[in-house]
Amino acid sequence: MALLSTSSAEVLRSYPAVWLRENCPCSHCRDPRSGQKLGNIADLPADLSGELVDESPDTVTIRFSPDGHVSTFNRSWLVEQLEPQQGDGRTEADKRRWTAADLAGRLPGAEWSIYTTDPVVKLRVLEDVARLGFAILRGTPTDGGTVLEIARSFGYVRETNYGTLFDVRTEVDATNLAFTGLAIAPHTDNPYRDPVPTLQLLHCLSNALDGGESGLVDGFEAAATLREEDEHAFRRLSATLVPFAWSDGLAILRAERPIIGLDPSGRIREVRINNRSMQAVRLPRLELEGFYRAYRHFVEIVSRPELQVTFRLQPGDCVVFDNVRVLHARTAFSDSETGRRHLQGCYADMDGLLSTVACLREVTR
Ligand code: OGA
Ligand code: ZN
Ligand code: ZN
Repeated sequence: MALLSTSSAEVLRSYPAVWLRENCPCSHCRDPRSGQKLGNIADLPADLSGELVDESPDTVTIRFSPDGHVSTFNRSWLVEQLEPQQGDGRTEADKRRWTAADLAGRLPGAEWSIYTTDPVVKLRVLEDVARLGFAILRGTPTDGGTVLEIARSFGYVRETNYGTLFDVRTEVDATNLAFTGLAIAPHTDNPYRDPVPTLQLLHCLSNALDGGESGLVDGFEAAATLREEDEHAFRRLSATLVPFAWSDGLAILRAERPIIGLDPSGRIREVRINNRSMQAVRLPRLELEGFYRAYRHFVEIVSRPELQVTFRLQPGDCVVFDNVRVLHARTAFSDSETGRRHLQGCYADMDGLLSTVACLREVTR
């Protein structure tokens, strides 16, 4: 607020004329109804300059040369723009990282009946998915297809070549390890897609009596741990393009991305890791040795028990998680006459969830 008393001249020194002009709020520059910009940066004079021609406690008015355009800005808006950029919610800067001990006994989530009726609870659950990377909805219907209804409660289902939803249960002659009773190590799904689905839901219709526990690992925490233990390995995983692929008779999918994705300022933004679909990395021999040292170290961190929260999905439980951050795993299981494990999953995206969070913040304020 102290900044509000900053003089107009001082505020204006912080911005080049082109920035002020590009952000002019007048009705020639912005459509009054949508607020969308009407102009094109390339149409503005290249040699713009501006001078202060009027001010009030609330406004600052500038006249631009050479064309004489006049812009009146809200002073508090100008001052607000001096704050650091907000961030888009996706990088480590906007996350709460965790280890198993941090969440001990208190997994984020809510009862479905409360989530669907209380916007404050719904907002909290979705904020947990955004900030912690997951939440569990309990007491959802155990009818097939419910997972789609859950995804639609906050966003949009991402349909893929697997359909709108996929079944995870044992199959004879399984085409994927997912459809056996084998354990699956921590991984992210579908790294062979670009864009990769940023959210995944796994909904439990029934569980095995024996085994079939679920595990989650905060991949950002694991990547940050690697950065602390071996900065060089961290850099290498962020700079090596790894091919991931998957194909069957109907689809041929391939993407090349680093295992640890960074934003331009070096903050962790994405983790993709899946030994089942990772392909041969092609690099000169010495670089391959370095890559494998780094990759092994990262997988070793990801496998540490202290990083993994473990829980058992009960029928009616649905875990919603960030598929570019949180790795998921399961222990081996064996089906029996009385307990056959059956999950249904689907993909969705973080943009829809974050939009719902922003809208709920407005209505619950
Ligand atoms: C998978 C998977 C988890 C489970 O199919 O990719 O991670 O709990 N399944 O079966
Ligand atoms: Zn204008
Ligand atoms: Zn999976």
